[in-house]
Amino acid sequence: VGELLNEGILRDTLGRRPFRFEPQTGSTNDDAIAWAQLGAPEGAVVISEEQLSGRGRMGRMWVAPPGSSLLVSVVLRPTDPALINRITILGAVAVWETLNEFIRNTDVVAQLKWPNDVLLNQRKVAGVLAEATWLGSKLEAVALGMGINVRLNFANTPLAGRATSIEMATGRQIDRAALLARLVERIDYWSARLGDPALHKTWEQNLDTIGRTLTVQSADEEYHGVATAVGDDGTLVLETDDGEQRIITAGDVTLLD
Ligand code: BTN
Repeated sequence: VGELLNEGILRDTLGRRPFRFEPQTGSTNDDAIAWAQLGAPEGAVVISEEQLSGRGRMGRMWVAPPGSSLLVSVVLRPTDPALINRITILGAVAVWETLNEFIRNTDVVAQLKWPNDVLLNQRKVAGVLAEATWLGSKLEAVALGMGINVRLNFANTPLAGRATSIEMATGRQIDRAALLARLVERIDYWSARLGDPALHKTWEQNLDTIGRTLTVQSADEEYHGVATAVGDDGTLVLETDDGEQRIITAGDVTLLD
């Protein structure tokens, strides 16, 4: 699996940024929330090599063998709770920008997929899960969790056509510490600009979803139509076959064209 992360590598990578490294944990999002409740500052980072109850969207599990991925949660403390929906977008854009650095001079293409996936050559390479903690009605903090497949090989697995890793897609060796350094830099950049229209614009322009015919499977319904836009809050606008506009907040997209 290559070199495992450790305190020393992370200290060198993260400099003065507060971080916690857990060789094994439940979920880095839980750790980040718990630490935030005890006062972790904006930008504090939790990293783990192995999660025993890693979470994905829609109640799914996120499973990754030790050393295979970058599993990280960043504590954010947005001052304007109205912008909370932007944080997932921030995570996806930051991961996408980071990947673009690491696929430079290859023919691999990085794309965003609604609502919060990042793709390499149309296959999922990373997912984002932002979770908030509230003090009554006041937003206390958000754990921005990201899982990036770095050296998983999905060949001959049930996920072969749908998932990839950076090393599998590029054939390059990837230094996870360098990946983390770049990622937190992009998160710092955008978390200082959460209200900047450029964030939403970058996301929208690089979504593989807009203009495509697709189905969205949400918890209880399936929609079919053409994706026409994404709202400021990250919702998907779908023009269904009967000409109606639907605003969709969550679901799984399958492209049909
Ligand atoms: C998804 O695509 O469904 C989102 C996956 C998010 C996974 C990351 S791994 C680090 C952080 N801790 C978790 O338990 N989940 C996120």
